[in-house]
Amino acid sequence: MKILVIGSGGREHALAWKLRQSSHAEKIFCAPGNGGTSEIAENVAIPASDFGALVRFAKENHVDLTAVGPDDPLAAGIVDLFAGEKLRAFGPTKSAARIEASKIFAKELMRAQKIPTADARTFSNSAEALCYCEQAKFPAVIKADGLALGKGVIVAADAATATSAIDEMMNQGRFGEAGRRVVIEELLRGTECSLHALVDGNNYLLLESARDHKRALDGDQGPNTGGMGAFSPADNWNSKLQARFETEIMQPLLRGFVQEGVKFRGLLYPGLMITSEGPRVLEFNCRFGDPETQAILPRMKSDLLPLLEATIDGKIDQCTIEWDERVAVTVVLASAGYPGKYETGKSISGLGDAAKLEDVQIFHAGTKRGGDELTTAGGRVLAVTALGATIEAARARAYEAVSHIHFENCHFRRDIALSAVTANIGKLS
Ligand code: AMP
Ligand code: GLY
Repeated sequence: MKILVIGSGGREHALAWKLRQSSHAEKIFCAPGNGGTSEIAENVAIPASDFGALVRFAKENHVDLTAVGPDDPLAAGIVDLFAGEKLRAFGPTKSAARIEASKIFAKELMRAQKIPTADARTFSNSAEALCYCEQAKFPAVIKADGLALGKGVIVAADAATATSAIDEMMNQGRFGEAGRRVVIEELLRGTECSLHALVDGNNYLLLESARDHKRALDGDQGPNTGGMGAFSPADNWNSKLQARFETEIMQPLLRGFVQEGVKFRGLLYPGLMITSEGPRVLEFNCRFGDPETQAILPRMKSDLLPLLEATIDGKIDQCTIEWDERVAVTVVLASAGYPGKYETGKSISGLGDAAKLEDVQIFHAGTKRGGDELTTAGGRVLAVTALGATIEAARARAYEAVSHIHFENCHFRRDIALSAVTANIGKLS
């Protein structure tokens, strides 16, 4: 089969890497890909936003399956367009992608199905939102309704912070259309956990759990980022929570989709807060997590390709997944300045030595190849994953690999998975 992976991040490198291991994969293309995907696939210089060129490419090159990595093209209806051209694409339709692209749509669906989540009010009028702030309880969380590159969520300690966030979003158009409506919700306390499910319209199959590290600096300090590291399985997850998650969240969600007349086919990734009262939904994503994918896929022993196909064909109930029992730890190396304005064009060295280490896999994100030279070309540059029998072993190996890699002003967190070191992870009780 010929496969096209759309996107250019670490998640897409991990997807291409995993799909390439399939005995059914004859050729992999990445559009536009990065310096890592160019080594295992053919990079095609088409941005993920140029749907017309992507459709033409898929037709001319007889692509059998397209896997869409990022949320933006899904929210803009790329899968509908491909389907209209009789091209097979993995990912939800525009209507189904609203579960991530509109926090208000997601909240309403959760409310209708009594899915546990933060209590929330939604506003499309800024005067009403501002007035609500006068009597709301703080801290509270202000969220832009639409996609805002991960920057549309503000934890407001007091009414003044909330008021300025609302003003920026609703009156000053900080996120354009995405911020014209807002959700104001209670702050949930606990620890976060990322779940991934292949959903085929009727049934779902869960992947192993993972934990992301969203803040830029050690000790969960600094601004929120796309994710500075991850590990799988999550130390705060167990079979009791999973049973509750399935009955209180996944099953009602699927019922909600049916009632809305929406067929969700693709990867659904609920972001959860594990509170003292059980799992609560923070958000639903309609695509693989980044960097969670770089920690989860190296643990997947089964072939990913038939799983994607079964999802599209409504046959995920016929599938199972075999997992490596070992723990995976992924450390992200970022450019100076990330998640703000960051440096690019720095020469990267040491990857060869890092990659030689056993049980290490290096995924590229913001890298570019020019002749023999590999340079930085994005905020998150590389994701280094190591497998280990214990969390300590996986961490030690991941950081050993990181120590071989150099580029000017590289920054990374030194505490990825540290909180899990003493926990009994990997054993669902
Ligand atoms: P979201 O895009 O809704 O997942 O929000 C991004 C991040 O903001 C989450 O991963 C959490 O770290 C944080 N967050 C969002 N909503 C809440 C909430 N109600 N309580 C606490 N933290 C939240
Ligand atoms: N790691 C967070 C996300 O993919 O949204």
